Amino acid sequence: MKKVFVTRKILPDGIELLRNKGFEVLVSSKDEPLTPAELMEKAKNVDAIICTMADSINKEFLEKNTHLKIITNYAVGTNNTDMETAAKLGIKIGNTPDVLTEATAEIAFGLMIAAARNFRSAMQTAERGEWKHFEPLGHLGHALLGKKLGVIGYGRIGQRLGEMAHGAFKMEVRGYKRGDDMNEFLKDLDVLSIHVPLTPETKHIVGIKEIAAMKKTAIIVNTARGDVIDQDALYEALKSGAIFSAGLDVTTPEPLVPTHPLYNLPNVIILPHIGSATYEARRAMSILSAENIINAFLID
Ligand code: GLV
Repeated sequence: MKKVFVTRKILPDGIELLRNKGFEVLVSSKDEPLTPAELMEKAKNVDAIICTMADSINKEFLEKNTHLKIITNYAVGTNNTDMETAAKLGIKIGNTPDVLTEATAEIAFGLMIAAARNFRSAMQTAERGEWKHFEPLGHLGHALLGKKLGVIGYGRIGQRLGEMAHGAFKMEVRGYKRGDDMNEFLKDLDVLSIHVPLTPETKHIVGIKEIAAMKKTAIIVNTARGDVIDQDALYEALKSGAIFSAGLDVTTPEPLVPTHPLYNLPNVIILPHIGSATYEARRAMSILSAENIINAFLID
C-alpha cells in the first residue's frame, strides 16, 4: 500500500479520495508547519507528500528523499520548491492551479476596494471610539469607476481580476507584457495589481524606481508573493504619500511580525495570505492534490 504524508490538516475531500483509491494517508498532528528536521523524518517512510508553501522542498530535502514519487504543493506557487533538482532526480512536483483563481482574484478585488476607500483607517476610527460625527472631509478615498488598472502577471488570476474590475467598475484594464517599458506602463495607472510567480527575474519587480513612476493617487495590490515588491521602498512611499495606499495579502517575511512598521501606517491593509481561503477553493485544492498523486502513480 502506497503511503502519503500530508504536512498540515486540510479539508478532507482529497484525503478520502486517496483512501478510496487504496492509499494509506497520514496527516501531521501539529497545528503548525513541521520543522525541516521533522519533515525529513516523516518523509523517510512514505511514497508521496502533500506539503504547503511553509515547507521548504530544497535541494538537501530532495537529495535525501529520492524515493518519493511526487511532492504536491497545496498552492499554485512553487517558489518553496527547488524545481530543477526535483526534475534532475525524477521526483514529480504537483501544485493546484486553476482551482484557486477565483478566490485569489476576489481577494485582490477586495483589497483594491479596501485600499481605495481607506477601510483600515476608517475601521480604526470606529474601533478606537474616535467616531464622533459624520465627517464631511473624513476618510476620503478614490472612486474606481472608469479608472485604470494595470496588471503585472496577466495570467489566470490577473485576467480574472481584470474581468471583475471591468465588469463591476468599467475599469480600463492593461496587462504588462515582458519587454514593455515599465515606466510607461505604470505612469498613469490608478491601481496596480501584481500576479507573477516569484522567480529570480520577478524579485522586486516593483521597487523604488517603479514606485516613483506611479501617480501619487495610485494604489498597489499584491496577492502574489511578498518579494515581488521591494517592501522597504513600498513602506517609504506609503509613509511619505508618494502613493495613496496598498493592499497586501503577502509580505516579506511571512508571517509579518506584529511589531513591523508597516502595520503602523493607516494606508496599508495587510491580510495573512488568505488568497485561496474559501471553502470552495480549499476543497478543490484538496481534491486536485489527491488527483496529482493518483496520476503520478498511474503514469509509471
Ligand atoms: C498561494 O499563495 C498559492 O500559491 O497558492
